[in-house]
Amino acid sequence: MVEKVRAVAQRCIEEGKGLVPLIQAVQAECEYLPPEALRTIADTTGVPLSQVYSVATFYHSFRLKPKGKHTCLVCLGTACHVRGGERVAEEFSRQLGVRPGETTEDGEITLETAACLGACALAPLVMVDGEYHARMTPQKVKRLVGQVRRGEEADE
Ligand code: FES
Repeated sequence: MVEKVRAVAQRCIEEGKGLVPLIQAVQAECEYLPPEALRTIADTTGVPLSQVYSVATFYHSFRLKPKGKHTCLVCLGTACHVRGGERVAEEFSRQLGVRPGETTEDGEITLETAACLGACALAPLVMVDGEYHARMTPQKVKRLVGQVRRGEEADE
């Protein structure tokens, strides 16, 4: 892990990239940013570890823990937002006990949000493990989460 991170960071430094794209490149390589990756970034770039951490924790797109087995992606783009996407996202948070960007304690489900999933006519839209779930409501969320947890094929 350390060698891989060092090589990516070194390449980014040579390309003149800033800290954010460098951390993005490391995450793309490692899938998430464990403490040793952040330490290696700090060592390689000379940026204080506290600053690397503050950047890595500031942006939602950075992941400090591995992704869950399943991903629930709630669209919060304009079309979904005006049709209640925010309430759907809140219900997912409530059912899963995590905020967007986080993974459940058991490592099963990661909750994420998106700016648009490209099918606005189906709003509010949720994507679970790559499958669309159209016209989502907070009432449908509990059932969908149950199906995902049981590994069942979700409806719709
Ligand atoms: S805004 Fe949600 S799919 Fe486009």
